[in-house]
This record gives sequence, C-alpha cells and structure tokens, in this order.
Amino acid sequence: MARVLVTGGAGFIGSHLCEACLRVGEEVTAVDNLATGSAKNLPAGVRFIQGDLRDPSLSKTLLDEFRPDVVYHLAAQSSVIRSIGDPIHDLEVNVRSTLHLLEACRAARRAPAFAYASTGGASYGDPEKLPVSEDHPAEYRSPYGASKHLGEAYVSLYAQLFGLRTVSLRFANIYGPRQRGDLEAGVVSIFAQRLREGAPIILYGNGEAARDYVYVEDAVNALRLAAQKGAPGGAYNVGTGVATQVEEVLGLLSQAMGIPPARVDRMPLRPGEIFRVALDSSRLNQATGWQPRYDLEQGIASFAEWFLSTCSESRR
Ligand SMILES: NC(=O)c1ccc[n+]([C@@H]2O[C@H](COP(=O)([O-])OP(=O)(O)OC[C@H]3O[C@@H](n4cnc5c(N)ncnc54)[C@H](O)[C@@H]3O)[C@@H](O)[C@H]2O)c1
Repeated sequence: MARVLVTGGAGFIGSHLCEACLRVGEEVTAVDNLATGSAKNLPAGVRFIQGDLRDPSLSKTLLDEFRPDVVYHLAAQSSVIRSIGDPIHDLEVNVRSTLHLLEACRAARRAPAFAYASTGGASYGDPEKLPVSEDHPAEYRSPYGASKHLGEAYVSLYAQLFGLRTVSLRFANIYGPRQRGDLEAGVVSIFAQRLREGAPIILYGNGEAARDYVYVEDAVNALRLAAQKGAPGGAYNVGTGVATQVEEVLGLLSQAMGIPPARVDRMPLRPGEIFRVALDSSRLNQATGWQPRYDLEQGIASFAEWFLSTCSESRR
C-alpha cells in the first residue's frame, strides 16, 4: 500500500486530497498547524500530526517515521493581503518550510516523489494574451506570489541537483466544499456565506475582474497525476483556460442557491490583486492526460448543494 504525506492536510485542498488518497487505499498522514485549517476537515482514517513545518526537526521526523512514497506539500500562508502586511511570516512559512521538507526528502533513504502546490494566479501579473502558458515571464504583485514562486524554484532545483522526483502545480482559483468563507480569498465561499446571511456583497475590480476557476476535485486529480507522471523538476499550470468575471460567478451561485443578493457594492481591486487571468494547462494535459471534469456551472451547482445541506444540518 502506498504511503502519502499531505502537508496542510487539514486545509481546504489538502483535506480533499486526503480523501482521494484514502479512497484508492493509500495510507495517509496529514500534518498541519491549524493556522487556517481545521481538524474537523480531516476524513476518518487519516493519521494526523499537529505541528509547524517551520520547525526543521518536524520534517525530518515525519520522513523518518512514515517513510512516505509521495509528499504532497500544500501547507502555506496563502493570503495575498496577509503577505503584504507580514512578508517575513509569509517567507518563513512558504519558503523555509518548503526547504526543510526538501532537505528531509533528500536525506531520506528512499527519496519520495514530491508535489508542490504553487500558484498560477499570482505568478504572471496581468498577461496580455490569455490563456497564459508556463513560458510567460514571472511577474508578482505580492510577497505571496514571490514566496510561492521561490518555493517552486527550490522544488525544481532539488530535481536538478539531487535527482528528486519533484513537480510543481501552478493552481488557478480553486473552489469547492470546505473552503473558508470568512477569509479574504475564495470568492465562491465568501459569496455563499454572504448570500445566506443576506449581507452585502463586494465585487472587487468593479465586478469585471476575471479569474480561472477550478473545482477542487479537479485540482486534487492534477496533484495525484502530476506526482505519478510529471517530469522531474516540471511546473504545470492547472486551469480551465477560461476567464470568468466575478459578477458572473455571483450570478451562477445566486441562481444555484436560489438566493438573490441583498446588495452588491463595486470596489476597485485591492493591492496585490490582478485583473484578469486564465491558465493554459496543455503541458499538464500532455504529460498526464489531465483535464478538468467540471465546468464552472457544474462545479458551482455541486458546491451549492454541499453548502445548503451543510447549513441545514447545522440548524438541526
Ligand atoms: N485555493 C486556491 O485557490 C489556491 C490557488 C493557488 C495555490 N494554492 C496553494 O494550494 C495550497 C493549499 O491551499 P488552500 O486553499 O487549501 O489553503 P488552506 O489555507 O486551506 O491550506 C493551507 C494549510 O496549511 C496549514 N499551514 C499553514 N502554515 C503552516 C505551517 N507553518 N505548518 C503546518 N501547516 C501549516 C494551514 O493551517 C492550512 O490548513 C497552498 O499552498 C496554496 O498556496 C491554493
């Protein structure tokens, strides 16, 4: 039975990844310091270690004790706004922790495959042509974008220098069940929460800002396929190739939930945000056969069903 280690396993994408690995019979260990994640997200059957990956001894202990075949590294400080307020913390979590893990993998008797959750949405600025491919020059608008990309540089270097089987996945905007609606990112969850509360909804970029939305199940599938079949040191976009305006996302969600917005306010983009992006995932498709199974309408319908049933359960 394959053994996998999921860092950030109590977070949004990490908890779905744990579920997917368990479903195919893998033995799953999750590590998380619960900074934004929650132990409630962890599916039954996962071994959970609460700890902070900024501590170098933790990575070494995890690799020594669990001897994983694959390490999925998702733990991160993933807020653009927080990264602007506290870039040192952002660097400590996103770069240092990544290096500690890579070092532990390098020292392992049998080095595991290593898949790193990077960002496509915060790596290319506002590209002139969409969808943007991995060959577009890097351009950051936030310490978050810079730190994730620096993490990615080390991930790639460890393939070149030490022969580790590493890959990076540059995610677009991932959405789905269990994404927190009380933080700054994750518009689908934020809108759902505000629609339910009858609270005003703010459309940044005056409603015209556009992003590439990928359903979480598709993101998890990309991680698993790339860990198995990606080229060592490779970096792959994970997107649908479609840029959807935030106003349209609100419309689809409001329709799926059957709740019209109480009020909509339009505001300019916040510092660090980009206006328009969509990712070309041809490289990932060619390497692994990955393609998204959900279009935005299907993904939002599936999310809305989960959200409404969770709300009615919590009222019981
Ligand atoms: N959600 C998206 O749209 C998106 C887009 C691009 C990239 N990503 C990347 O995907 C990964 C997962 O994102 P997510 O949306 O699930 O975020 P998330 O915040 O839900 O998950 C991150 C997890 O890491 C944990 N964590 C943070 N610091 C830690 C530390 N020092 N030690 C141990 N655990 C720590 C948090 O508690 C959390 O559970 C991140 O690396 C993020 O940068 C996400």
